[in-house]
Amino acid sequence: MSTFSAPKGTYDLIPPDSADYLAVREAIAAPLKRAGYGYIETPGFEQAALFARGVGESTDIVTKEMYTLTTKGGDELALRPEGTASVLRAALQANLHRGALPVKLWYSGSYYRYERPQAGRYRHFSQVGAEALGSEDPALDAELIILAVDAYRSLGLQNFRLLLNSLGDTECRPVYRAALQDFLRGLDLDEDTRQRIDINPLRVLDDKRDSVQQQLIGAPMMRDHLCEACKIYHEQVRELLIAAGVAFEDDPKLVRGLDYYTRTTFEFVHDGLGSQSAVGGGGRYDGLSEMIGGPALPSVGWALGVDRTVLALRAEGVTLELPSRTDVFAVPIGEEARRALFGVITELRRGGVAADFAYGGKGMKNAMKSANRSGARYALVLGERDLAEGVLQIKDLDSGEQTAVALDTAVAEVLAKLG
Ligand code: HAM
Repeated sequence: MSTFSAPKGTYDLIPPDSADYLAVREAIAAPLKRAGYGYIETPGFEQAALFARGVGESTDIVTKEMYTLTTKGGDELALRPEGTASVLRAALQANLHRGALPVKLWYSGSYYRYERPQAGRYRHFSQVGAEALGSEDPALDAELIILAVDAYRSLGLQNFRLLLNSLGDTECRPVYRAALQDFLRGLDLDEDTRQRIDINPLRVLDDKRDSVQQQLIGAPMMRDHLCEACKIYHEQVRELLIAAGVAFEDDPKLVRGLDYYTRTTFEFVHDGLGSQSAVGGGGRYDGLSEMIGGPALPSVGWALGVDRTVLALRAEGVTLELPSRTDVFAVPIGEEARRALFGVITELRRGGVAADFAYGGKGMKNAMKSANRSGARYALVLGERDLAEGVLQIKDLDSGEQTAVALDTAVAEVLAKLG
């Protein structure tokens, strides 16, 4: 160990485990690419005010969890705690909203929240996300949810559940909010929670404590206060999901930790993860663009947590079928053989074969050990006598069977064997 270790709440991705993370990112991205989402990458930090305005001044993310910094030049920046505000900022800056709508974008990256670390909750974590900007169409909400479900399924994940709700819009939510505030003010709550009634009453519904939940029985629910337009919209999303064979649970108490949501909101939870059960979440955010100074741009999106998806796969005992890291492993004996075999390996790699080499002048025994450990199907063995005879030994590492082939046709022979 060195003097240093990874900061609290963070961890390193190291082979072989890191391969699962890559595979999860790729599996989530694949359905998005097929559905016309283009890749976007934004900086790891933004002006802190973007998140304060976008995610919300009253959210835990902004008040407690943001990594903020003042640069030497006096700029107030924050490490991004989430991707939606950044993606929308970038799309507006590039005038994408002036072109064909919706603009469909996906991203993959690191996010930072100063949270109390525990299993599944980190200060540096990884999301793959998707946003569809500039269109108010229930088919878009349904499309995104279906793509997330398809991604989880393609990984072999099974025990996840989709929770669905509608948070209404600027017409019906304020009315509901006032009704909820009235109800909450009549309850026996601690000072912190009472304050929340004024700032963010919907979050009280999300309180995990039994003492609070018991008092919430009979609380007014958004679903009973939706305006006609929101009701119809939500029903259409539900119908499209049902038609696509996507199971969901209506969860009238589902509120999310970000303030920008309107109408459709959803969360994917996994029951094998303990308290940090949300593997992904998202929803519609029709007012966010205006909140950050842009034009009206109704949009919808989600982000799936890569770390928690990997934990969920492990909790279910799913092992991902990852392509073998190495197809062939070269075992040279002697200096001259090393040079010749290194050439063969280079050519094989250029031909698309995953190939590795016994570096460091290992003896035959150690080199064969490395070959076996690599998971390769074939070892290419070249000794001094082989070299003199112009041949190379191809050893099948499963059966132990060994065949000699002419050195100058070795590349073609290996390619043929690997089919
Ligand atoms: P979020 O629910 O805050 O939504 O995060 C999405 C997912 O990121 C969570 O479900 C979880 O899997 C993962 N995640 C969040 N915080 C942590 C953490 N501290 N450690 C490990 N994993 C974590 C958003 O971020 C929204 N931007 C999603 C969205 C996109 N809504 C619309 N478009």
